[in-house]
Amino acid sequence: MTETPPVSAAPDTVLAVRSLTTTIHRRGVESTVVDDVSFSIRAGRSLAVVGESGAGKSMLIRSLLGIHPPGLDARVTGSVELAGVDMLNTGAAARRRVLAAQVGMIHQDPLRSLNPTYRVGQQLTEVLTFGRARPSRSALRRRAIDAMAAVGFRDPEHEARRFPHELSGGQRQRIGIAAATLTDPVLLIGDEPTTALDVTVQKRVLDLIDERRKRTGASLLLVTHDLGVAAERCDDLIVMRAGSVVESGPAQQLLTQPAHPYTRALIDAIPRLDGPRPRRLRTLAEGTLS
Ligand SMILES: Nc1ncnc2c1ncn2[C@@H]1O[C@H](COP(=O)(O)OP(=O)(O)OP(=O)(O)O)[C@@H](O)[C@H]1O
Ligand SMILES: [Mg+2]
Repeated sequence: MTETPPVSAAPDTVLAVRSLTTTIHRRGVESTVVDDVSFSIRAGRSLAVVGESGAGKSMLIRSLLGIHPPGLDARVTGSVELAGVDMLNTGAAARRRVLAAQVGMIHQDPLRSLNPTYRVGQQLTEVLTFGRARPSRSALRRRAIDAMAAVGFRDPEHEARRFPHELSGGQRQRIGIAAATLTDPVLLIGDEPTTALDVTVQKRVLDLIDERRKRTGASLLLVTHDLGVAAERCDDLIVMRAGSVVESGPAQQLLTQPAHPYTRALIDAIPRLDGPRPRRLRTLAEGTLS
């Protein structure tokens, strides 16, 4: 394992994770799905967590937020400091308040996070009523409409009245980003936010996340299995495998000088437009395949 980024409590640290370890118990079997993971993110910076399926990326996110599926017997140790709050030693109500105010979650599949029976505009106004202040209905509606305009809806007054299933996957993800950024959180977290979208829409959604961050100064924690996307969009990377961090550091350094064979294998898996065509395709193109 190479050097982990400093886990200093610099004054502008938004998230500091130290030795986070998650053990789950299933049918009498104990397994460590997040193993001694440490990293930190400063204000306005971005960090990507990359690794293959099952590496523990989602478990890491759930563990640091203190959110596990009902019925899952998970034990989390280590420490998580979010916006100055010691999240693992804080009561559930206070933790929920910190999460509602400071974290914007962008889910992989907004269909699962959006309520199918509410119009999308209503769902945005609901996000705004989590806080203590209760603005007027018209003020709430105005903010929801403005938020939809900010994520690129051309006719938000009209589109706010749509139900989630009436929107395309890309439009739903834009609603997801509007919802995540509505309260100006200090940290945006995306767990594979573009995996369910086709490639051209993926780029637009990632651009939109970047654009929103530029405006609000939010930090980003991006989970992806795509090292190419991670390196293009984030300042720092951690590479996970089987629950552990195998390598971490500045994105460009990891991409150009990977120290670990697993990181090199992930780099080799990045599709390249300028690279040699895969053998089978070349054979087909040359007409030599019988
Ligand atoms: N609800 C659950 N109950 C039991 N085990 C789980 C549950 N969710 C995940 N696991 C286990 O935890 C480990 C890490 O899974 P996790 O979902 O964090 O992987 P991941 O890196 O997010 O993968 P993917 O890229 O497929 O989303 C895996 O071994 C998985 O089987
Ligand atoms: Mg996952």
